[in-house]
Amino acid sequence: MLIGIDVGTTGSKALLIDEEGNVIQSWTEEYPLYTPYPGWSEQEPEDWWQATKKSIQRIISLSSISPREIKGIGLTGQMHGSVFLDSKGNVLRRAILWNDQRTVKQCDEIVERVGGISKLLDLTLNLALTGFTAPKILWLRDNEPETYSKVKKVLLPKDYIRYRLTGEYASDVSDASGTLLFDVKNRKWSKEMLSLLDISEDWMPKVYESPEITGTLLPSVAEELGLVSGIPVVGGGGDQAAQAVGTGIVKAGIVSVTLGTSGVVFAHLDRPEGEKEGRLHTFCHAVPGKWHTMGVMLSAGGSFRWLRDSFGEIEMELSKWTEKDPYEFLTMSAEKVPSGSEGLLFLPYLTGERTPYPDPMAKGVFVGITLRHKKPYFVRSVLEGVAFGLKDSLELIKSLGIEIKEIRVSGGGARSPLWRQILADIFDSPIITINVTEGAAYGAALLAGVGVGVYESVESACETAIKIISKDEPKKENAELYRDLYELYRSLYPLMRDYFKKLSNFVEKYYGNQK
Ligand code: XUL
Repeated sequence: MLIGIDVGTTGSKALLIDEEGNVIQSWTEEYPLYTPYPGWSEQEPEDWWQATKKSIQRIISLSSISPREIKGIGLTGQMHGSVFLDSKGNVLRRAILWNDQRTVKQCDEIVERVGGISKLLDLTLNLALTGFTAPKILWLRDNEPETYSKVKKVLLPKDYIRYRLTGEYASDVSDASGTLLFDVKNRKWSKEMLSLLDISEDWMPKVYESPEITGTLLPSVAEELGLVSGIPVVGGGGDQAAQAVGTGIVKAGIVSVTLGTSGVVFAHLDRPEGEKEGRLHTFCHAVPGKWHTMGVMLSAGGSFRWLRDSFGEIEMELSKWTEKDPYEFLTMSAEKVPSGSEGLLFLPYLTGERTPYPDPMAKGVFVGITLRHKKPYFVRSVLEGVAFGLKDSLELIKSLGIEIKEIRVSGGGARSPLWRQILADIFDSPIITINVTEGAAYGAALLAGVGVGVYESVESACETAIKIISKDEPKKENAELYRDLYELYRSLYPLMRDYFKKLSNFVEKYYGNQK
């Protein structure tokens, strides 16, 4: 038996699988997300820890297995978040998350200190984006100097959980890649970046390849969790790399599309060669010695959740009385709306954007509303707008010359047959669904299996566990309509960029934190 733990944005999931990759038990405990000001996004690391413990206790008690059967634990989680610790390992403030947009000034400073964007791309293979870890460290220096003066370690979310489980300060190459302090080409901390930003290397944890063992379960924690002490905990991966392992994206030719809160288009790379302008992220893969590139939309499933929470009161009420969830009611109504939503277009930049426009000030937009556009049209146009945003990333990946033989879709949004059909139509390509839906936690459990010798390699773990179960074919009659609408969609952001900036200044002036 293997355990995978995913410290996500909505909750912490613990997953138990057997050696053949069968899911035995899964449990997720949720926790709050704090948005004290527009653009801010924070969580309490202690909440992650309490939720993780509960989830592990749950899967053990629900599965009636002997704790002795558990051979390894793999960790994954939301990337880029900053957990600041003092010399005793105490958390100094809430963690600042991947979708937080407060660090525009610090990103500019990083580019300036490094000596320009092309030098930054040379050192890290990535752009300075507001959600990444390095600008958050500088933000703390600028805005909370007293706290900054106490910092002795900076950990990523899953690595804080590792610290609580094993007492070790450690990370893995895929998650470390998202800090902007990592030499992605050479898979180690970048001494140059750290020194240019005056950040001590002692603050950073030791980095491992994803299947490597980083420590073992502490006796006191084992007792509390009902496990045995000494279980190996492997490096694991950032949620995107682990998700890729959990969906079999561990060799060239297969690309994945993940519809979680964020939306990600992910491709495996044999060499660290990214998009030359840095519009795609290029990170180390959880497969030792390999890399990956990905486009990240900040609000994919998040856009649909926003629609449900803001306008889906009736659907939420209905779901209490039936087996269906509110999303099913919403998509049922949208099925009757013609493809293209009769010209109602949605720009899904509800929390700013990263790919293809690294712009924290971008906003969500509906364009083309007429009297005919009732609620089901808005639902469909959100599903279509997110699919167009993902197509932007797919096109960038194609522009690298990467051959795409297969597109696999996963994540909560992939459960919707309508959304899958829209993706197939807009990509004008078949969409494959696989047998496992546990995503990143599943990948983390497989990585644990590799680390403790259950599987020979990450590739063979995926071959054992992952199977194709269905294929959605694109409807040829929609191809031209969606090609035309995509052109319109693409023309909107450049028209609105300056406006978004003015609007953000307005919001900051009247509703923001003046820091
Ligand atoms: C990846 C990213 C998100 C988060 C949240 O770069 O920021 O996918 O990891 O899941």
